[in-house]
Amino acid sequence: MNRRDPTTLRSHRWFGAADLRSFGHRSRIRQLGFGLDEIAGKPVIAIINTWNGLAHCHGHFPARVEAIKRGILQAGGFPVEVPVMALPENFVKPTTMLYRNLLAMEVEENLRSLPVDGAVLMGGCDKTTPATIMGAISAGLPAIFMPAGPMLRGNWGGQILGSGSDIWKYWDEKRAGRISEAQWSEMEAGIARSDGVCMTMGTAMTMTSLAEVLGLTLPGATSIPAPDSGHARMAAATGQRAVDLVWQDIKPVDLLSAASFDNAIIASAALAGSTNAIIHLIAMARRAGIALGLDRFDELSAGIPVLADIRPSGAWLMEDFFYAGGLPAFLTRIADRLDLNAATVNGRTLGENIAGATVWNATVIRPWDNPVSSAEGLAVLQGNLAPDGCVMKPSAAESRLLRHEGPALVFDDYDTMAAAVADPELDVTADTVLVLRNAGPLGGPGMPEWGMLPIPVKLLRQGVRDMVRISDARMSGTSYGACILHVAPESFIGGPLALVRTGDIIRLDVAARRIDVLISDHDLQMRRDAWRPPAPRYARGYGAMAAAHIGQADTGCDFDFLQRPGVIGEPEI
Ligand code: FES
Ligand code: MG
Repeated sequence: MNRRDPTTLRSHRWFGAADLRSFGHRSRIRQLGFGLDEIAGKPVIAIINTWNGLAHCHGHFPARVEAIKRGILQAGGFPVEVPVMALPENFVKPTTMLYRNLLAMEVEENLRSLPVDGAVLMGGCDKTTPATIMGAISAGLPAIFMPAGPMLRGNWGGQILGSGSDIWKYWDEKRAGRISEAQWSEMEAGIARSDGVCMTMGTAMTMTSLAEVLGLTLPGATSIPAPDSGHARMAAATGQRAVDLVWQDIKPVDLLSAASFDNAIIASAALAGSTNAIIHLIAMARRAGIALGLDRFDELSAGIPVLADIRPSGAWLMEDFFYAGGLPAFLTRIADRLDLNAATVNGRTLGENIAGATVWNATVIRPWDNPVSSAEGLAVLQGNLAPDGCVMKPSAAESRLLRHEGPALVFDDYDTMAAAVADPELDVTADTVLVLRNAGPLGGPGMPEWGMLPIPVKLLRQGVRDMVRISDARMSGTSYGACILHVAPESFIGGPLALVRTGDIIRLDVAARRIDVLISDHDLQMRRDAWRPPAPRYARGYGAMAAAHIGQADTGCDFDFLQRPGVIGEPEI
């Protein structure tokens, strides 16, 4: 292995120089109880730890930090743990998405300001993956991602439980009086029964899997269940590899390319990944200087069948996927669509990493001639309602709705909508198009996962199970239905969704990739002239800063000043 001269290490500026400042630096390392021989000439590796006492999916991170440290020490590096915000998906209000960019900034500025040479990024619970990777890309130091790994299968009463989608089913049973309080409590205890991230193909497993496709993890790392002893071994190996990355000066931008993002988009389609991945991949790509846009998702997803039989699109869970061969085996199924020359963090190509991987269970990891679904997994639509685009999952919708005209029923906020759909007298038919606005990046704020608007109870009683719904919100990876999401620009800043009125006819034509409100340009302009922006959500603080700088969904919701090209130089003093 070609090794850099240790005096070229960043940390050498702090600890290796012969000046007054480095006297201070060395004395403070000694204050921490380390001898100088423990750090001199060694790569200092920051272990970016998205853990706190409420990080429900990262409960094993304190133990994994020790495994990562072990690996770093074995490889001749010097490990330092750097705690950052944890973003536990279930607890953070109003939504973790509001804080993705804050975590990205925290990672970037920690890496830039501290005497470190490289990083291990510990993440998994939804936003922690894109955030830590975005920060590491911009920091420009060698980095490797350590995925949290999925939870074990949920279990109750002999039934397998999957995070998210399954509990809605049982909630309806409970409301119908068929499940007791005691049984409900047992389910609470059984649905998230181990460390690890949601074991369905929600945002967490989509994003960690795509991090692996992008070459930012060791091969096979993401599918290992968090409690498996292999997970700790992977953590140690990740730490070892981080040291080599520094010696070889391999940074995320050296691995990421337009081709690697194409690979991620194709893999996401075959995994039936979360629509949230669209926003995160665009943001990550743009940090790396790659001009990824929505169109690419539409182009590359076409004709890719769903091959991962994992809930909510399929029947199984991540534990089953791991036993079936995991992501490397899965990628062999789509290998002829991938650029196998893409570089990865272990120094080999993606193709070399998946060569020889075996599918052990063709029910869980399907072949092309027996897909879970061959319906279109993703469509990007445009029209006078969404000039900058919006997305939907045609495969998750009833096919009769893919070409549809109906009157809008418009709601300005979530609570009004929630009250209305519970009203058995609501003026609504199966043809109505439900519209929720003020749920975008600024309006939500933080684009909450409200996109699967509930079917009004009146229609539920008539047997209606799907209808066209439009919003500038996101949707959980575990949701489904004819839901049009991520409408850009959002209504809160005056996007056309703000101008729609109840009773306007909305036309959806998925084959033509169109979404329009059938009113004239002239009338639309009159309404635009009369529109007044709502009061800002935040008068001060981080929320106010986010509102001043956040981009729309089609650009990845990054802050404008974080997406700017260019490299920030090393600290001068
Ligand atoms: Fe953490 Fe789902 S709540 S991954
Ligand atoms: Mg989620």
